[in-house]
Amino acid sequence: MAGFEGQRVLVVGGSSGIGRATAELAASRGAAVTIASRDQAKLDAAAKAIGHGAVGRVLDVTGDEAVEGFFADGAIWNHVVVTAAALPAGPVREISVTVAQASMNAKFWGAYRVARAATFAEGGTLTFVGGLFSQRPAPGRVVQSAINAALEGLTRGLAVEFAPLRVNTVAPGVIDTPVWDGLGAARDKTLESIAARLPVRRIGRPEDVALQIAFFMETPFATGMVTYLDGGAAIT
Ligand SMILES: NC(=O)c1ccc[n+]([C@@H]2O[C@H](COP(=O)([O-])OP(=O)(O)OC[C@H]3O[C@@H](n4cnc5c(N)ncnc54)[C@H](OP(=O)(O)O)[C@@H]3O)[C@@H](O)[C@H]2O)c1
Repeated sequence: MAGFEGQRVLVVGGSSGIGRATAELAASRGAAVTIASRDQAKLDAAAKAIGHGAVGRVLDVTGDEAVEGFFADGAIWNHVVVTAAALPAGPVREISVTVAQASMNAKFWGAYRVARAATFAEGGTLTFVGGLFSQRPAPGRVVQSAINAALEGLTRGLAVEFAPLRVNTVAPGVIDTPVWDGLGAARDKTLESIAARLPVRRIGRPEDVALQIAFFMETPFATGMVTYLDGGAAIT
């Protein structure tokens, strides 16, 4: 596969999970990688583990000024990936409007803020991470469905307005990352039972999603795409 030598890659949300796997893949293929998220200690640990000169910079995507300030140095990025999110689960009548708005502010408006503030090199890409709940809703996941669907609209709109910048979204099914840690002792059993129902008989790994993101970066004909990477969840 082609490398990323000489390319600058920014992964917002790169200190954990899918973002971190994406940063690792890009760095291992020669990119100069920057990871960004809210916690400097987490970033430092992740950057050290990624190696290849990866650096971590603090960024909270929930604030206009913070995002604009982050990009104010005018750095030119070949590829920007946004995975940052912290989403609530629970019934609509139990999640307050304030909490729902806060998660929209982080995942959707965070992506929007990064899109409008970043400067891209010719041939560059912008990739978001949505989620299968946009197409396959579930009780208790309504806010996530709405946010991910909005992100898909943003993707297609930006792919037209920002062209020739290529803008894409990968919408994963269940991926084994720290987002599932909230299940506590039930975590492993829950993931095992989801895996057993999938055609691929396993849940996704962050590296699976990183491969799809690398595809978007490397494929000059790919833009305005939303790819559901779900182990066959959508067809079962
Ligand atoms: N894992 C799954 O099963 C799954 C399925 C479908 C979709 N997704 C989507 O995939 C994306 C990545 O999820 P993941 O599983 O990789 O989660 P994760 O392991 O929890 O990683 C989330 C990353 O985002 C950062 N972050 C959170 N809020 C932020 C903010 N306001 N500003 C900047 N950074 C922020 C976190 O670092 P800090 O907390 O230190 O800031 C962390 O680096 C999310 O959009 C999620 O909805 C995941």
